[in-house]
Order: sequence, then C-alpha cells, then structure tokens
Amino acid sequence: MSRVRVHNFSISLDGFATGEGQSADAPFGHAGHRLVGWMKATRFWHELGVVEPGEETGSAGVDNAFAERFGPGIGAEIMGANKFGPPGWQDDPQWRGWWGENPPFHTPTYVLTHRPRPALAMDGGTTFHFLDATPQDALAVAREGARGQDVRIGGGPGTVRQFLAAGLVDHLHAVQVPILLGRGVRLWDGLEGLEQHYRVEAVSSPGGVVHLTFSR
Ligand SMILES: NC(=O)c1ccc[n+]([C@@H]2O[C@H](COP(=O)([O-])OP(=O)(O)OC[C@H]3O[C@@H](n4cnc5c(N)ncnc54)[C@H](OP(=O)(O)O)[C@@H]3O)[C@@H](O)[C@H]2O)c1
Repeated sequence: MSRVRVHNFSISLDGFATGEGQSADAPFGHAGHRLVGWMKATRFWHELGVVEPGEETGSAGVDNAFAERFGPGIGAEIMGANKFGPPGWQDDPQWRGWWGENPPFHTPTYVLTHRPRPALAMDGGTTFHFLDATPQDALAVAREGARGQDVRIGGGPGTVRQFLAAGLVDHLHAVQVPILLGRGVRLWDGLEGLEQHYRVEAVSSPGGVVHLTFSR
C-alpha cells in the first residue's frame, strides 16, 4: 500500500502554520516568509525552479537533506483550497494557483474545495483536480492518480489536521521554526495524544530550526 506523507511543514513555536490575513500579496498572511525562510535557503528550493536563475545556489546541509525528501516516491498531492489560492479565488475563473504555468508538483494534484471546477492541466506534469470529498474518499482518488506511489498531503494546516485526525498519515515531517506568530491557523488543535501513534525523532539544524518526524 502506498504511504501518505507530509513534508517540510513549517510551524511556529506557538503552533501556527500560517499567519492571519492571507491575501494575494501575502500567501502566509502576517507571517510573511518567516515560516519558510529555512527552506528558501536550501539547494532543494533553488532546484525547484521557483527562484530566478542566477540567484545564489542554496545550502546543502541538514535542512536541505530533509527538504529534498519532498519529491522522491510521490505520485500525487492533496492540498486544501486555501493553499491553492487566496480568499475568493473560487470567484476568479482565471486563477491557476500561485506557482505559474509549471508548478513544482509534477503529479496529479487534488485540491479539496466545496466549490469544485473542471481540472486544469499545467506544464511539467501537474494537473489540478478539484474535489469535494472526505479525507478518506479524496485519498482513494489520489491513490489511483498516484499509480502505486505515495501521496503527499501538501497543507495547509486545516487539511493536514483533517488527515491526521482521521489517522491517515504515515509520515509527518514538521519543522519547528523559532518564531512566535501569536495568531493564524494552528496545526495541532484537537490532536491530543497524536504522538502515541508514531515513532518521533527530532534533529536540530545549525540553521536554527528543529526537524520533527512522526513515522509509523
Ligand atoms: N506552514 C507550511 O508549511 C504550509 C504549507 C502549506 C500551506 N501553508 C499555508 O497554509 C494556509 C492555508 O491553510 P488553511 O488551513 O487556512 O487552509 P487549507 O487547509 O489550505 O484549506 C482549507 C479549505 O479547503 C477546503 N477543504 C478542506 N477540506 C475539505 C474537504 N474535505 N472537502 C471540501 N473542501 C475542503 C475548504 O475550502 P472551501 O470551503 O473554501 O472550498 C477549507 O476551508 C495558506 O496561508 C498557505 O500559504 C503553510
């Protein structure tokens, strides 16, 4: 059976995985890029092709070793509507995601939304499919799309929390970033005792973040 994995999921010390006030200019709301700064400094990020050519190449240390596990073995992603676009994107028929014409997923990518629309085929192998489904049903569809490979739950926190609560996640890589956001969307709410179902390991990086893996 293919596995269900979460990678590079960044959380503030007070448990928030995004800030308040998400908008087209601020995908993480008032958090800005502070949650994902550790990843943007890695070679992995630079090789994703989401930075301008010629920018510095990124570090190849501990953070990079974790970050680059994002892709191998993954055959599909599931994400929430608020990761796919800012509030109100469902009213904009032209919205095609934040990532341009060649998004960094390169697999079928299932966007959970109560307002589904026809699928969008992008360059580079990403096709966005829009689904109104329970986590279990969405996972069954994504597993078919993944053709035997693993399924990544891409976030945001509301979506990852649903899959954790349903007991569907086999591997969670969470990254504790030493910032206090104070407000936003939390990951861990309602998941009391979650750690008892996993083997938990922690690795602190010289970059200042702690990589936590929950594996079963
Ligand atoms: N920290 C990180 O590593 C990380 C990673 C990824 C994203 N993010 C950030 O996280 C934020 C988004 O997270 P979020 O928790 O607000 O939202 P989210 O998980 O991306 O999306 C939640 C929305 O998805 C739809 N949805 C979720 N489950 C559904 C289901 N079973 N059936 C139908 N629709 C469903 C609903 O939208 P509708 O009812 O409107 O359709 C729901 O309001 C963004 O700011 C993004 O930048 C952070």
